[in-house]
Amino acid sequence: MAHLAIKGGSKAVNRPLGKAWPIYGDLEKRYLDEVLNSGKWWRGGYSEAESSQSKVVRFEQEFAAYQDARFGIAVTNGTQALECALKALGIKAGDEVIVPAVTFVASATAIILVNAIPIIVDIDPATYQISPAAIEAAITPRTVGIMPVHYAGYPCDMDAINAIAKKHGLFVLEDCAHAHGTIYQGKKLGARGDMGSFSLQMGKTLTCGEGGILLTDNEEFAKKAFSFHHIGRMPGRPFYEFHMVASNLRMTEWQAAVALAQFSRFDEQANARDANARRFEDGLRGIPGVAPIERVPGLERWVFYFYHWRFLKDEWPEGVTRDRFMEALGAEGVPCHLGHLHPIYQNPLFLERNFGPVVWPQGIEPPDYSKIQCPQCERIFREEGVSMSHSIFLGGPEDMDAMLDAVCKVREHADELIG
Ligand SMILES: Cc1ncc(COP(=O)(O)O)c(C=O)c1O
Repeated sequence: MAHLAIKGGSKAVNRPLGKAWPIYGDLEKRYLDEVLNSGKWWRGGYSEAESSQSKVVRFEQEFAAYQDARFGIAVTNGTQALECALKALGIKAGDEVIVPAVTFVASATAIILVNAIPIIVDIDPATYQISPAAIEAAITPRTVGIMPVHYAGYPCDMDAINAIAKKHGLFVLEDCAHAHGTIYQGKKLGARGDMGSFSLQMGKTLTCGEGGILLTDNEEFAKKAFSFHHIGRMPGRPFYEFHMVASNLRMTEWQAAVALAQFSRFDEQANARDANARRFEDGLRGIPGVAPIERVPGLERWVFYFYHWRFLKDEWPEGVTRDRFMEALGAEGVPCHLGHLHPIYQNPLFLERNFGPVVWPQGIEPPDYSKIQCPQCERIFREEGVSMSHSIFLGGPEDMDAMLDAVCKVREHADELIG
């Protein structure tokens, strides 16, 4: 008789794990009501003197302080946050910016949307984050910046990246879409380079449905980003005076109301995820054939969007693949998936060069993305990486134990997965 659920045996976990996402309560309703009754549904409804009453301004200030940054500029979403930051950092048509192969495609498309060229490089297999050696090898005379993505909330090697940037005179724009609240070397992320960009889209660990925010310690970049998100206005200047060609990327007071309410629960949720993940990691270390991604020294709190861990193919009976393992674990009641471990350059937009109305200067062309090879990223996508949603880690330790029991069960009866 089969033991594994995928073969008709009984399921290891018969209840939902973690918590349904998003989580909300009366505070969201109260803040939304306050916005409704204020009659000021956008930040421009408040004069500069009244600006502390704006929920957008309050969110900018509170989130920036929380992330150890001096300035925050709240925007419509994480993709436009990246575009806005690139403009504030002075990007020009045809400039090259280095990005990792493992990220959500928006990290790279934001670069194309400002007429610049993403140069896609491999990741470090120990951390799944952009490889400093690969960055260094990709620098050309046209490189102007590096976009480390703290993928799945795990910190990139910022000391190495900042050192490379300094040596070559490049900017560093951290894509922190997954990394709200992560504490690394005693500080949070987002102002470790020149600018940092966050997404507040609904799946993220801090959300208002759609939204984004930029952080920086640099006053000049903050002023430029403010202007680029506000049709070219400048703080302290007359309302109908415009200083650059810029779009409207303003966050609404509605979005900020929800973001602020969500933010009030953020730390508690972040601590719960981290404590649960540590318990899961300890358990994984004791099961043959699987392993956690070990935490780099200095990673004090990992607040992840996806939680990644490893399937070690060589430690399983021949014929048991990562995909089959994930299917079996899913059937046991432990949902896992691939996240976006898919190498971004394999998307049709790169392979078919569907770059839209982008204009690069004459004689400057992006690389032939169909020829890019990032062996680590491709191997991890093909046979190693396992990904889970952050919301699974919001329950109690008993959920972690149930997940580990399910992994053990699949391991013990791996022979049922052959053939
Ligand atoms: C790494 C990364 N960067 C940027 C973005 C874009 O954010 P948004 O969806 O808010 O535009 C995302 C969204 O998932 C992301 O995962």
